[in-house]
Amino acid sequence: MHPEIQAKLITAEEAAGLIVNGEVLGCSGFTPSGYPKVVPAALAERGKKILESGREFGVSVYTGASVGDELDGTLARAGIMKARTPYQSHKDIREGINNGSIEFFDLHLSHVAQQVRHGFLKKPTTAIIEAVDVTQNGKVYLAGSGGVSATYMMMADRIIIELNHFYGKGLKGIHDVYIPEETGRRRPLPIYTPADRLGTPYVQVPLEKIVGIVETNLPDSMGNLVAPDADSLAIARHIMEFLSHEKRKGRLPHGLPYQSGVGNVANAVLSCMAHDDALDSVSLYTEVIQDSIFELIDAGKLNVASGCSLTLSKAGQNRFISQIDELRPKFVLRQQEISNNPEIIRRLGTISMNTALEFDIFGNVNSTHVMGSKMMNGIGGSGDFTRNAYLPIFMTTSIAKGGKISSIVPMVTHVDHNEHSTQIFVTEQGLADVRGMSPVKRARAIIEKCAHPMYKDMLTEYLDYGLKHAPSKHTPQVLDRAFEMHLRLAQTGTMQA
Ligand code: COA
Repeated sequence: MHPEIQAKLITAEEAAGLIVNGEVLGCSGFTPSGYPKVVPAALAERGKKILESGREFGVSVYTGASVGDELDGTLARAGIMKARTPYQSHKDIREGINNGSIEFFDLHLSHVAQQVRHGFLKKPTTAIIEAVDVTQNGKVYLAGSGGVSATYMMMADRIIIELNHFYGKGLKGIHDVYIPEETGRRRPLPIYTPADRLGTPYVQVPLEKIVGIVETNLPDSMGNLVAPDADSLAIARHIMEFLSHEKRKGRLPHGLPYQSGVGNVANAVLSCMAHDDALDSVSLYTEVIQDSIFELIDAGKLNVASGCSLTLSKAGQNRFISQIDELRPKFVLRQQEISNNPEIIRRLGTISMNTALEFDIFGNVNSTHVMGSKMMNGIGGSGDFTRNAYLPIFMTTSIAKGGKISSIVPMVTHVDHNEHSTQIFVTEQGLADVRGMSPVKRARAIIEKCAHPMYKDMLTEYLDYGLKHAPSKHTPQVLDRAFEMHLRLAQTGTMQA
């Protein structure tokens, strides 16, 4: 270690001691990958003691997206997380957001960095960044995720680095760090294939801005993924059949990249791709790279995986480390304003696959709010991809909570993606391709292909009632009945009549 770097080594407690009440922390991390792990825990302890002594203490937390318990959980439970942006998925933060104690600002992930640089969001005061190496001339090599780290480091007054030795320096070279020019002077981003790079493998910072480096040796806290269940596999199979159909019709140009959201369904789809003889190779232009990547690699089908984070289970992280030199050339990790950039997503013809909480018969999607009010996680990158994809696909199981809830409803209780952006809907029941369809035809297709048999008649009756009684037959919504199913759920505990 260079003496100038060594001179900056401090403990997590010392680092936490530098943070004062009211700060805005710009943290690395995107999903449980590449986020600071020990400074937040030390800060939580310090914050708790300050609160116990009757003084005030709280911070706002910016990240790339949801991160591990060591950051999101500890700060929320300590009661010192006052505000959070963007996407999160931690139960303790969710509770705080929904009981009103944590202010949450949810925005498209591609927008975060730019809005911070433009001053639309409060400036981060301290950046806390996980890295695998820092050089004496201020080159910071990020750990497993890109997130908004480069912008947070650029904008913050000071930087704390968690130097994590778990992945080792083998990750050096996997990142492509680029911050677009200022708005008004911006030129096209020259990414023409998912493998293209346009920046540097490190973030350049003035060394004097780094006020402390804390050494760690810790894996990311991603749990092991469970094997895909029957519903996930059914959804994946419908998507594979649809893609073959599109190929036969000549509507699927060869080599378009895929984006798939986080979770088991997304994993199942990529796993099906690995085992599908009709697909010879797959490229990803996505956010999260999950364990299913290994199935594509083992099947010899992975061209390149461009994303924002390596979201791997413990076993996946260990495999990645052991094969790092062989794997690195096939991976590019980007800042999220590039991995989710509308210009690039549209240019590459990305096929997006995201999960909905509920969608309505006319094609509007709710990804975020249970019963229109309770925040689940946030919009994440689903909007960045859906609006700009060559083929946007939404998937969900047709029912939730053992059938008490239909995921297909007359009118969604919150709109994240509207009917003008959506095209393909899939549940374990089937796939509705609603391209070019008027609202009524769309509704018939979605009910027929996607709704669970126990809710088909209810939804059809609503549509037919609307066609008789709605003030307009174009989108025959009937306002005094549109939320009948939701109201029944609230009153009786089930949407079933
Ligand atoms: N109404 C109420 N609850 C519902 C529901 C509905 N229509 N549909 C699902 N749920 C519940 C499930 O029962 C489950 O509850 P539990 O945690 O108590 O078991 C929970 O919501 C999660 O559902 P699950 O089926 O496990 O889906 P998931 O883990 O794949 O999450 C989203 C689904 C929509 C919450 C998640 O994909 C998300 O946050 N999406 C938005 C961001 C995004 O799309 N990102 C992708 C690009 S980053």
